[in-house]
Amino acid sequence: MSEFQAPIGTHDVIGPQSYEWEGLIGTFAEFAHRFGFSLVISPMFEDIGVFNRGIGENSDVAKKEMYVFTDRGERTYALRPEGTASVVRAFVQHNPTTPWKAWYATPAFRYERPQAGRYRQHHQVGVEVLGSDDPAVDVEVITLAWRFYEAIGLKRIRLLINSMGHDECRGAYVELLKAHLKSNVASLCDEHQKVWELNPLRVLDCKKTPCIEVTSKGPMLPDYVCADCSAHFAKVVAGLTSLGITPELNPRLVRGFDYYTRTTFEFVADSLDGAQNAIGGGGRYDKLAEELGGKPTSGIGFGSGIERLLLTREAEGISSALVDRSVDVFVIDTTEDDLATSLCDELRRHGLSVERAFDGRSMKSQMKLADKSGARFALLIGPQEQAAGQVTIRDLRSADHEQAQSQVSRDSVTTAIFNLITK
Ligand code: HAM
Repeated sequence: MSEFQAPIGTHDVIGPQSYEWEGLIGTFAEFAHRFGFSLVISPMFEDIGVFNRGIGENSDVAKKEMYVFTDRGERTYALRPEGTASVVRAFVQHNPTTPWKAWYATPAFRYERPQAGRYRQHHQVGVEVLGSDDPAVDVEVITLAWRFYEAIGLKRIRLLINSMGHDECRGAYVELLKAHLKSNVASLCDEHQKVWELNPLRVLDCKKTPCIEVTSKGPMLPDYVCADCSAHFAKVVAGLTSLGITPELNPRLVRGFDYYTRTTFEFVADSLDGAQNAIGGGGRYDKLAEELGGKPTSGIGFGSGIERLLLTREAEGISSALVDRSVDVFVIDTTEDDLATSLCDELRRHGLSVERAFDGRSMKSQMKLADKSGARFALLIGPQEQAAGQVTIRDLRSADHEQAQSQVSRDSVTTAIFNLITK
């Protein structure tokens, strides 16, 4: 084992797995573009206040999972545990015209107990829209995610949805929930017996049987959201349904961050293990911009875990590549004059993917590399070809290599390769 390894809970992504990443992010970028979003890149760390105020200092992520550090100027920063708070901080700082539609692909850092599908550095693709509370925006954001999942081949996924109401109606509900929890404290799970009061909504989200039993006998959020929030939610559900995207109502879906208001949603993959089956999630956060010092501005977005999306493709047995990263041509040069350099340059300038060997390897060794590269064609140039001003083209996918080769003049190589590729 080498002396240094990637830190616990993190992983390196190298080829060929990284092709899947490229394909996935590229497909997401394409969908974001179709839906009118532009890329936002913001710092990987922020003043800790952005997250404490944004996601809530009593959220599990802020309390237990953030990577916090003090820099040499004595400023306290945190690595971003998620994408939304930073994007909204950027919105408040730059005050762009609304609706502002931004997408991102970013690492996120959470000190979690690592396991399959749960990492200390994971990666998300996501979007945020600021400046509209129209339910049509909720529908558009959820549709983007759904169409993207379809495009990467996912079939066994479900959309769970809920409304968290706004400050006032949720506030009244939380009081009722508190009263219910107070009279049932002894029956909650060990952790929530201690901390239920700090953030009672978290108990609804708890996956442990004692908490599920207590909360299922208590008041449920959808029964208490006000008429306005209910009407908003009904429009979201109707809009999605009209597009053939059928949400499942889940009154327990309160999500882990304090910024959520009204619509909340999660996408789950039935092919993944229950504890890590959320492949994406999001919702409205109509107070977040204000929390971060901006004007009152509605917002909504979602984030989706790249690792989990790829695990889901694997679990569903989807083998089609997300992007074509195959090699077109491998140049084998056994002359002493490094003719490969100009040949590669010419073919690459015409848009082909071209590989070659270095270090004056033998013909046999270069041939092995060519086979390993998966290239469709090998171009051979040795002393004989050099003398005749020719190049040998060999089709590496043909069973009989000797049969599947032809010679062309050096000047017509590119045309000949294109003719063969398009044949
Ligand atoms: P989140 O549900 O915490 O929401 O994360 C979004 C997605 O990131 C999850 O559904 C999951 O696929 C993936 N994910 C989260 N934690 C991990 C982990 N430790 N390891 C692997 N994958 C993980 C947010 O982060 C919100 N910012 C989403 C949002 C955007 N809400 C509004 N706008």
